[in-house]
Amino acid sequence: MATIDKTQQDAEKLTAALAAVKFVKDGDVVGLGTGSTTTFAIKELGKRVKEGLQITAAASSIRTEELAKSFGIQILDLGSLSTIDVSIDGADEFTETLDLIKGGGGALFREKIIASLSKNAIIITDASKKVKKLGAFTVPIEVIPLAYQYVFDQVTELSGRGQLRSVAHKPFITDNGNLIIDADFGLIDHPAKLASDLNQINGLLAHGLFINLTSKVIMSEGTDIIVFE
Ligand code: 5RP
Repeated sequence: MATIDKTQQDAEKLTAALAAVKFVKDGDVVGLGTGSTTTFAIKELGKRVKEGLQITAAASSIRTEELAKSFGIQILDLGSLSTIDVSIDGADEFTETLDLIKGGGGALFREKIIASLSKNAIIITDASKKVKKLGAFTVPIEVIPLAYQYVFDQVTELSGRGQLRSVAHKPFITDNGNLIIDADFGLIDHPAKLASDLNQINGLLAHGLFINLTSKVIMSEGTDIIVFE
């Protein structure tokens, strides 16, 4: 596997973030994703808010909410919104057909709600996230704790090799109080079919396959910006 230069990668994340922020206008309700790429966008939005941009925002995680507030961005209750004008979020993998794997940061459930509400769902990435087929990155699956073993077994039935996500030898707990199974399905030939199969599993709150939820991916490669839509 090719090694990725972190400085170069951060420069690409910043370039993509700055390009995405240009889509935000006065009066917009903005959906804010989670992760290192989105952090660049939140910082830039905060700068623009200080310069007079008037927006409100919905956050996909507690850490994004705290970050946005620290930059003076007003946060709305996600559960009260019927629509979001524009959202900006990252991805762990994407294809040119705008299928994604998300949830590396564990915020997939709220990120999916934000993407579902968004009129313009923008994904920002560095060049390392573009793949021909999804699946080198495992698919995060958020599961309600009392359904853990059931969901794990159902994922196995679908040929997914699951692993409970843990941090410092303890189960990772999402902002919603749930567990995450990271499931390896190998390279995924039919992501929409797998997404639909996963959607049938009771007790599975959300999975990281984002299908038909993205308006555009803004990817930076070197100093270039490439938009997939
Ligand atoms: C969090 C996500 C992130 O968007 C994804 O993990 C990418 O993160 P980063 O921008 O740090 O590479 O889905 O749940």
